Amino acid sequence: MLLVTGVNGGLGALVLERLAKLPGGLDGVVAGSRTPDRTPVAGVPVRTVDFDRPGTLTEAFTGVRTLLLISAGYGEDDVVVARHRAAIEAAERAGVRHVVYTSLSGDGDHLGYAAAHRWTERRLRASTTLSWTILRNGLYAELLGVLAAPDQDGVITAPLGDGGLAAVARADLAEVAATVALAPAGHAGRVYELVGEQAIGGADVAAALGRATGRPVAYRPATLAEAREAVAASDAAPFQVPMVLSTYSAVAHGFLDGRQLDNALPALLGRAPRPALDVIAGGAGAAR
Ligand SMILES: NC(=O)c1ccc[n+]([C@@H]2O[C@H](COP(=O)([O-])OP(=O)(O)OC[C@H]3O[C@@H](n4cnc5c(N)ncnc54)[C@H](OP(=O)(O)O)[C@@H]3O)[C@@H](O)[C@H]2O)c1
Repeated sequence: MLLVTGVNGGLGALVLERLAKLPGGLDGVVAGSRTPDRTPVAGVPVRTVDFDRPGTLTEAFTGVRTLLLISAGYGEDDVVVARHRAAIEAAERAGVRHVVYTSLSGDGDHLGYAAAHRWTERRLRASTTLSWTILRNGLYAELLGVLAAPDQDGVITAPLGDGGLAAVARADLAEVAATVALAPAGHAGRVYELVGEQAIGGADVAAALGRATGRPVAYRPATLAEAREAVAASDAAPFQVPMVLSTYSAVAHGFLDGRQLDNALPALLGRAPRPALDVIAGGAGAAR
């Protein structure tokens, strides 16, 4: 039995949708969610999975052979680490054989949310009972679309400097996660870097959005201080301010262009990845 956590989140939903398209892909699949009354794919059994309530995990993980553990990353590090610790401990107790974990790309160590991912990777490596696969997901194209969204006047004001992000389509990451989770034995002990093939910057996003919408879009590089003030004044939770700022800074200063990584995405997809600019421009076209 394969249990996928977080199925009502963006990535988990896409994983289930991908599994549903594969012949026999949903056989033996169980979905896990904090809200089991909802599911993105009908006909899949859903169990309550809430890492903040470890009591839910004993029942949820019963009979599970492979756990696709989708990171539950919204929170301070201590909160996220406690969630992932609870999930891994419960998996060990339940006799789960293999955990596939959605982590963060290896060039992401400057990001404010890297520590919880690296802690989880270490915890899996230290397990004496679990085999594991680590999917080091790059930052989503969809996320860059939000970080570099134009205002009503068609101006993207963001502290991205001249930096670029090897942004990756979330659907491609879901496809890889589904492939690996269905046949984990062939991926045991592997750490896969999964990033886009091209580094995308603010000017690239502006040009792509301009083409998609038929209206000119300009990119105006901002300072980190300006961005910090804007994010702090928004409805973002306090822990999100350093998350967002560290993302901007890491992109602006060239840490996330993907060049240092041995990118496994094309090989695991068996095709060329979806271009990140198409994902971003497609979203803008749909929103028109
Ligand atoms: N690479 C990137 O660019 C990027 C961007 C954003 C986030 N992330 C990370 O990747 C993860 C998956 O991305 P996503 O796009 O699916 O994010 P998302 O749409 O925000 O969904 C996250 C899902 O995580 C699950 N979750 C949250 N708290 C949980 C808890 N206490 N116990 C169990 N599950 C919990 C929830 O699933 P249910 O609603 O079904 O319970 C939630 O919907 C995120 O959680 C975050 O750690 C990566």
